[in-house]
Amino acid sequence: MSVHVYSSSEELAEAAAREFAAKAEEAIEERGHFAVVLAGGSTPEATYGILARDYIDRIDWSKVYVFFGDERNVPPHHEDSNLKMASEVLLDHVPVGNVHRIRGELPPDEAAEAYEEELRKFFQTEDVPRFDLVLLGIGADGHTASLFPETPALEVHDRWVVANPVPRLNTTRITLTIPIINAALAVYFLVEGEDKAEALREILEGDANPRAYPAKLIQPHGGPKWMVDQSAASLLGEL
Ligand code: 6PG
Repeated sequence: MSVHVYSSSEELAEAAAREFAAKAEEAIEERGHFAVVLAGGSTPEATYGILARDYIDRIDWSKVYVFFGDERNVPPHHEDSNLKMASEVLLDHVPVGNVHRIRGELPPDEAAEAYEEELRKFFQTEDVPRFDLVLLGIGADGHTASLFPETPALEVHDRWVVANPVPRLNTTRITLTIPIINAALAVYFLVEGEDKAEALREILEGDANPRAYPAKLIQPHGGPKWMVDQSAASLLGEL
């Protein structure tokens, strides 16, 4: 695991875009393509915007295959859709090889099954898929992707994608499961804002049960890379 603290959210976004480009270049050189999982929520928007603006000619976008870590149970043009956000700031502006979206307009179980099927076709393996990079965020409650505290998806080890009921939001979200995220070659968390400081302290330094802070369960080989701004890092001990 590594933790990198940036003095502002702009610096964080610049650094995250740089790291994304470096991972893309490395994956394309070594494996011929870059399979990347995008995070939803608002934090990555700035990073996606920088990629669209400054990296249009610096990444071989035709070899970039885009996936999503989670989706809300809404159609693709809905305000809450993670696809909509990513499309508006990034995917509509760069010529990516393919966008593998989660079909949030379907009943959640069907959407999860369809996405798992799509991943199996792409990766051509019965074993776990290995994404080149998974981008994630955290919520102030310690959730990541749509792996919310004390929800059934935290126990799932035999599926790649599941529909996860989230009673506190009165909805069901579609999410990659923990073993699939943990099998990725790299996992980066982007975290900003004071409202995340308490959760970040608990995730990185606390001893609460991981079921209460699911981001603790994300443990890929070598650990995740945490890219955080100063306000989110404000409660951390000496780094
Ligand atoms: C989503 C997510 C989710 C997100 C965090 C942080 O679909 O909402 O993928 O896990 O990353 O909730 O969201 P913010 O960046 O909006 O704080």
